[in-house]
Amino acid sequence: MGNSDTSNQMWGGRFASGPDRIMEAINASIDFDRVLYAQDIAGSKAHAAMLAETGIISAEDHDKIVHGLNTILSEIEAGTFEFSAKLEDIHMNVESRLAELIGPAAGRLHTARSRNDQVAVDFRLWVKEELQKTHAALTRLIEAFLDKAEQHAATVMPGFTHLQTAQPVTFGHHCMAYVEMFTRDRSRVADAIERLDECPLGAAALAGTGFPIDRHMTAKALGFREPTRNSIDTVSDRDFALEFLSLAAICAVHLSRLAEEIVIWSTPQFGFVRLSDAFSTGSSIMPQKKNPDAAELIRAKTGRINGALVTLLTVMKGLPLAYSKDMQEDKEAVFDAAGTLDLMIAAMTGMVRDMEINTAAMKKAAGAGFSTATDLADWLVREAGLPFREAHHVTGRAVALAEEKKCGLEKLALEDLQAIHPAITDGIFSVLSVANSVKSRTSYGGTAPAQVRRQVKAARKRMAKK
Ligand code: ARG
Repeated sequence: MGNSDTSNQMWGGRFASGPDRIMEAINASIDFDRVLYAQDIAGSKAHAAMLAETGIISAEDHDKIVHGLNTILSEIEAGTFEFSAKLEDIHMNVESRLAELIGPAAGRLHTARSRNDQVAVDFRLWVKEELQKTHAALTRLIEAFLDKAEQHAATVMPGFTHLQTAQPVTFGHHCMAYVEMFTRDRSRVADAIERLDECPLGAAALAGTGFPIDRHMTAKALGFREPTRNSIDTVSDRDFALEFLSLAAICAVHLSRLAEEIVIWSTPQFGFVRLSDAFSTGSSIMPQKKNPDAAELIRAKTGRINGALVTLLTVMKGLPLAYSKDMQEDKEAVFDAAGTLDLMIAAMTGMVRDMEINTAAMKKAAGAGFSTATDLADWLVREAGLPFREAHHVTGRAVALAEEKKCGLEKLALEDLQAIHPAITDGIFSVLSVANSVKSRTSYGGTAPAQVRRQVKAARKRMAKK
């Protein structure tokens, strides 16, 4: 086909010689874009069917093309397909093999199409599938948390701000915080699918085509909601990949925060949770150790996903419309981030499901650090009519006294408390216990066990809906 044996058979018409070895190395994407083979073949089949339906190619050629594409699909799946870097990418590898298999009819497949719309189709289909997987994986993670939250709706633990004991909360409430975070992630996935669901096929190189193609037909055949509306935008757009990486980065950041909490909670010093053997490792030198490696790796892998987002943002920044070869650099970052995120969510789900909760340790810690001081102040406002600022001050003196006596607030003598403020009665002791403190926080979205149970129920109902 080409002018010489070495020039590319797909576009060798105006090239006298083949590329430099280094040119081939920088130009070829087959080593990574071969994972798009199924999408590429599906796209070609949809395109060929439409070309036949609209009379652009004959039914006979269509049959040959379909037969050839099916053969290629099984060759790739059987591992017998020979990929060639000379043929640059998956699109040309498939088309070249098709020519070997079916002869001149193969040359008709690329009518009214360009690699620019072809790669956009393949990549969208791939990202869409990945988003659907992420959606399902997040559902499993959320469900694991809902089970834990239900089981521990009344399990008390210290709530932290600045990682300093703040106020007692329930572990169920803390679990539900993650349910909220991962539910937002999941809805970002659904939004991304919604926006991505448009078919690029038929935008051709950038300007559309003069052939009487039916873009609605190919869109439907490939499972897209509708065709894209602007051919220039279509071949230059990678928002769907950027959105995937953005939501992946946010989700990874959520996972890393949870991972960090698990690392802290599983230290002997905290001892709030015990990880299962299945999701921890031992030390080769220190026999007593049980390390939260899965949590640490989840925390660390967030770096790869954030890096992938920055990579693609940087690739796309400042690119003129429409397609530029820069965009070939969109794939590896997305492939790596997708595999990484899958693994992170799966490992986290396993860890959360298996994790044993040490309710005694949580309870002990929940009462430490004068965690019910705010309850004391609130009592002074409610029962003694003090302005909150004054109540805060009075409580501060009670905390100082307890610190001096090295005891908890609930262990202070009534007379000592009354010396700080005469309006205090023994009714105060009812709010100084951790259990009563959490039970009292019944405001909507608050930590009271009744509230937590209500939120679990509502969340389950929402999950069942979609
Ligand atoms: N391998 C290319 C990519 O991933 C396919 C599109 C090539 N288009 C072109 N005009 N050279 O972007």
